[in-house]
Amino acid sequence: MRTTVGIIGAGPAGLLLARLLHRTGIDCVVLESRTRAYAERRQRAGMLEQGTVDVLRACGAGERLDAEGLVHHGIELRFEGERHHIDFPALTGGRTVTIYAQTEIVKDLISLQLADRPPLLFEAEALAVEKPESASPVVRFVCGGRERTLACDWVVGCDGGHGVARAAFPAGTGRTYAHDYPYSWLGILADVPPSCEELVYARGAGGFALHSMRSPSVSRLYLQVPNGTDPGDWPDERVWDELAARFAVAGDWRLERGPVTAKSVTPMRSWVHEPMRHGRLFLAGDAAHIVPPTGAKGLNLAVSDVRLLARGFAELHRSGSTELLDQYSELALERVWQATRFSYDMTKMLHAQPDGDAFEHRMQLARLRRIAVSRPAAAELAANYTGLPLPEPQ
Ligand code: FAD
Ligand code: DHB
Repeated sequence: MRTTVGIIGAGPAGLLLARLLHRTGIDCVVLESRTRAYAERRQRAGMLEQGTVDVLRACGAGERLDAEGLVHHGIELRFEGERHHIDFPALTGGRTVTIYAQTEIVKDLISLQLADRPPLLFEAEALAVEKPESASPVVRFVCGGRERTLACDWVVGCDGGHGVARAAFPAGTGRTYAHDYPYSWLGILADVPPSCEELVYARGAGGFALHSMRSPSVSRLYLQVPNGTDPGDWPDERVWDELAARFAVAGDWRLERGPVTAKSVTPMRSWVHEPMRHGRLFLAGDAAHIVPPTGAKGLNLAVSDVRLLARGFAELHRSGSTELLDQYSELALERVWQATRFSYDMTKMLHAQPDGDAFEHRMQLARLRRIAVSRPAAAELAANYTGLPLPEPQ
């Protein structure tokens, strides 16, 4: 098999890149190790920056997003029993965010991709990227029990945090910067209308909790838990009791409970791989960087990487110039490090230290209070949360 751009991974990054290339007239093949059903069911992110919504619309994936996505004008911060609204449009000159599940984005992009027939192979697992320094890199993969090769002009690794693309960087050509956090998130999906109109980020006495949603009848909630937590140790009633305690406020607000339909634990890590290119191999999304979920940046960063890459491939296609592609790693990393910083700061500000450090707790409350009383501090949060602009080429 041969193609112009070989894409490994049909998560949001790989699928969106395939759409954007297709619309520019550049051919590509997407290899996905899992089945279509598995890729469409994986419960993950839900908060989309304005720029993410704009690019999904621009590539033809806006119809259901516009009909079913929930536009939010802010978030609520809760601490010490108080509620503070952060008004995004007022603080950012009109920007909003949209709640629309990653599962639905993946479904929309897969059906568009299959309808237009550029190849998207499921149960096609990439084993290795070979000769990334040459003019014709090759992806070796297994499909239907048979080993095959995909010869490409370019390869893009969109294969997530455990993919194979990163391994094609020879020793000494890249570096990973990492930070582990001493807590995880227990996430539930519940068939109950959200108890709030906007997302609530709470620093409760017992630790962090987040109230999000998927639709007017489905809630998504998260709870800080110790690393190594077994979801089996958290029966539904225990989860609801702990959530209610962490969201507790003065006044008559109440957390509605309902049947829990999914429950899982996610560890929290930050890491960034530099550079995001080796020869004719690029990395995009979780294949190049992971952020803790507190700032809701993982999916949005995957999308901004792909926007930069698509711009570079379009320029190459139009004029034969690799100038934009040559700047990809540097430009993408600029935004990646800003989102890494924001996710780190949000995480540290809202989670209880397992050792219960009382000084650190006071620092957290001081940071939260500053955001509550200072317009510039709130505006800084709002600018980062709704999404920093895409870096411009030099
Ligand atoms: P992925 O979505 O991981 O897609 C990678 C794709 O590559 C997958 O389909 C995988 O099957 C495929 N693949 C891997 N290896 C191979 C191979 N060898 N050959 C072929 N295909 C391969 N972000 C938030 O903002 N909020 C959240 O609540 C949140 N929760 C998360 C929970 C979990 C468990 C995880 C893992 C991530 C979560 N994230 C969250 C992060 C967000 O979902 C990711 O940042 C986003 O999925 C990145 O998209 P991607 O396309 O880069 O990678
Ligand atoms: C969701 C997840 C997040 O990590 C976040 O910060 C906001 C929303 C969600 O899954 O809806």
